[in-house]
Amino acid sequence: MIILVTGASGFIGFHLTKKLIESGNSVIGIDNLNNYYDPNLKIARLNILKKLSSKNEKKFKFIKADLKNRKIIDEIFDNHEITHVVNLAAQAGVRYSITNPDSYIDSNLIGFFNIIENCKRKKIKHFLYASSSSVYGGNTKTPFSELDTVDHPVSLYGATKKCNELIAHTYSHLYNLPTTGLRFFTVYGPWGRPDMALFLFTKAILENKPIKVFNEGNMVRDFTYIDDVIHGLMYLINKPATNKSDFNKSEPDSSSSWCPYKVFNLGNSNPIPLMDFIKEIEKSLGKSAKKEYLPLQQGDVPATFSAPDLLNEWINFKPNTSVQKGISEFITWYKDFYKTKI
Ligand SMILES: NC(=O)c1ccc[n+]([C@@H]2O[C@H](COP(=O)([O-])OP(=O)(O)OC[C@H]3O[C@@H](n4cnc5c(N)ncnc54)[C@H](O)[C@@H]3O)[C@@H](O)[C@H]2O)c1
Repeated sequence: MIILVTGASGFIGFHLTKKLIESGNSVIGIDNLNNYYDPNLKIARLNILKKLSSKNEKKFKFIKADLKNRKIIDEIFDNHEITHVVNLAAQAGVRYSITNPDSYIDSNLIGFFNIIENCKRKKIKHFLYASSSSVYGGNTKTPFSELDTVDHPVSLYGATKKCNELIAHTYSHLYNLPTTGLRFFTVYGPWGRPDMALFLFTKAILENKPIKVFNEGNMVRDFTYIDDVIHGLMYLINKPATNKSDFNKSEPDSSSSWCPYKVFNLGNSNPIPLMDFIKEIEKSLGKSAKKEYLPLQQGDVPATFSAPDLLNEWINFKPNTSVQKGISEFITWYKDFYKTKI
């Protein structure tokens, strides 16, 4: 079994690759180390993976490559006996997609296509990919269920993730490729992304700068701890999507199909008001934040809330880390990594 992880030096890809190596798997990691955020953080993650693999009989090979380069992606699949693929490389971020749409088309559509085409060509046993809670777009019915329609995206980012699900279904149907899409909900934790709230708030508070509180603080997020996400992914890799034998085409269920296709939420199912999240950060840092209240940003949504049932039925797993623990783990990592005195 050789697992290809794309976005291996990204936040989630790093944690997944680390867990896979530690569990004795052979992993090939791809990343283009782009500068959407500080590439030094990506390189630091990568150095940990390289060090770990030297202790684990060289179980990890890193290839710097861009998903949109079809020739290179084809060569990677031709040169290695890849059996499983986890596609985490993407242009992430809702707000950035308003100003930089091209990069979402390149990575999330062309890049995704180049990977799934190779999964078809090489008859990969299981193709997993990152979708997002952003596919729920303008929906206000909570919790967000995989059975709800997701036809009203409010950001190009969300639209590309929904496209990924549609493309995956087509490949599951036409080529019998087992595909599983995971709708992640605001993943946070050590080695987290510098463009996300926990990182931005922690940094600003420590530097005595104001934090930007959007929608005047009236936001609710289903924050999901990284270890829970990795736990779920580790179960899922070894459980390829199957077809649903009693699938009813006249009343279609959007999380499964007559072909080997699944889509699941991977969220904490315990939404936290943004102001409570900020209070927890302040508590953990022992310092108050200066707050700058701002309106809701374009492309953003006021609330996310994941329904846990379908994933729980499928792998008997539900995320369960509290934000108190998660925030504290993040801050411990942040202070250590950035050598912060406080
Ligand atoms: N973190 C979250 O809260 C969250 C929520 C929903 C969905 N997701 C999705 O999960 C996946 C992983 O997210 P993350 O938080 O780890 O983000 P990340 O930005 O830390 O990781 C993505 C990695 O992919 C790489 N990459 C981007 N485009 C590439 C390309 N064209 N070719 C090769 N490498 C490329 C980047 O350099 C980066 O290291 C993404 O698909 C993201 O959209 C994340």
